[in-house]
Amino acid sequence: MFATTDRYAEGPRGDTSWFVHDRFGLFIHWGLYALGARHEWLMNKEKIPVEEYERRYFRHFDPDLYDPEQWADTAARAGMKYFVVTTKHHEGFCLWDTKQTDYKITRTPYGRDALGPMVQAFRKRGLRVGFYHSLIDWHHPHYVLDPHIGPYRDHPDREKMNQGRDQAKYAEYLHAQVRELLTEFGKVDILWLDFSYPKPDGTGKGRNDWQSEKLIRLVRELQPHILLNDRLDLPYGWDFKTPEQTQPRAWVTVDGQPVTWEACQTFSGSWGYYRDEFTWRDTSELIRTLIDCVSKGGNLLLNVGPTGRGEFDERALDRLQGIGEWMRRHSRSIYGCTQAPSEFRTPQDTRLTWNPETRRLYVHIFAWPYKHLHLDGFAGRVEYAQLLHDASEVSLKMDSWHQSQIGTGGNVLTLTLPQTPPRVAVPVVELFIK
Ligand code: GLC
Repeated sequence: MFATTDRYAEGPRGDTSWFVHDRFGLFIHWGLYALGARHEWLMNKEKIPVEEYERRYFRHFDPDLYDPEQWADTAARAGMKYFVVTTKHHEGFCLWDTKQTDYKITRTPYGRDALGPMVQAFRKRGLRVGFYHSLIDWHHPHYVLDPHIGPYRDHPDREKMNQGRDQAKYAEYLHAQVRELLTEFGKVDILWLDFSYPKPDGTGKGRNDWQSEKLIRLVRELQPHILLNDRLDLPYGWDFKTPEQTQPRAWVTVDGQPVTWEACQTFSGSWGYYRDEFTWRDTSELIRTLIDCVSKGGNLLLNVGPTGRGEFDERALDRLQGIGEWMRRHSRSIYGCTQAPSEFRTPQDTRLTWNPETRRLYVHIFAWPYKHLHLDGFAGRVEYAQLLHDASEVSLKMDSWHQSQIGTGGNVLTLTLPQTPPRVAVPVVELFIK
């Protein structure tokens, strides 16, 4: 049916120019699962029936401390330039006052829309707006129960329970919701649809179950500039790839061609609020992850799972504040930057980023070297060097006594660094390239 795997073959694309400049966004996973506080997949993991899930979480959802202004402030201060929020996750619960179902926030004890105020708060601070919307739905009465995913996946009566279910009706519901999301909240910059799991024997879910082609046409018609991710089970029609929970080893390619990409990563493992998960990454690792993405031409979408009271918990706030501290002085090595041209070899224990407009190259030092930083391929190319956090000059020379002992030379430029590293999470040397 699909004659080509060329992603450029079909239809229009969104405009990625802002996206590859801004580089850093906030993912927000927020739904009823925040109350379970033990992973956003708990309904699936613990095989909780729909009625039970509603009884526990839908009837008790009351985020009384929810303040989108604070969320947006926190993201802006962390240096994030866009956000993507779960309008609906796999559990099926909707964060806005959709006309398509009563399984929505306005029918919980909270009783108000959460999405509109969030969009406004982030937009006010100049952040772009993205919606994550789950293709999967464990709540909808027409979603066909399959043997792979969902609370009833190995229920003995699954076949019987499927009588009267009509996946095409679910697809209509899905499309109607996407239409609402793309018409009722002004300009939406990203649509992040999640996810397909086709199986060779047809028992999974994919392009036919979502009517992906039709859905893409709807999306492009309503918001032509929008950026669409790659999880609709079509080899074309998307704008960017979405590796998650792992860092690509090089610029992401499709059919040998580098493509626009965004890694999405967690603080600790789960996306939704997880009270008892204690494997949190520290601030400097998260900063290194952001740098690593940009050094390979990609973006980072870093996730927070707000609590059932409607707050970012203190572990998240601590990391975001630390990232913001670093970004305040170092964002020049992130915004507008990309992978460095290949003639500049990456020194040991560093990552390079490059701003092609200002012609500045940034050396991010992951492990402080013994006095000297040797840059292969840089001889004669650098006009001036400084530490980025305080604009203090870095010497482009190495004295001859040291040089005679280790025999550098040729195409190598050696910087002499201060003995102790600056007190920042990741030190950066800014090189002005001739
Ligand atoms: C996955 C998971 C999910 C999360 C998403 C983020 O596909 O289903 O819980 O929302 O990835 O990338």
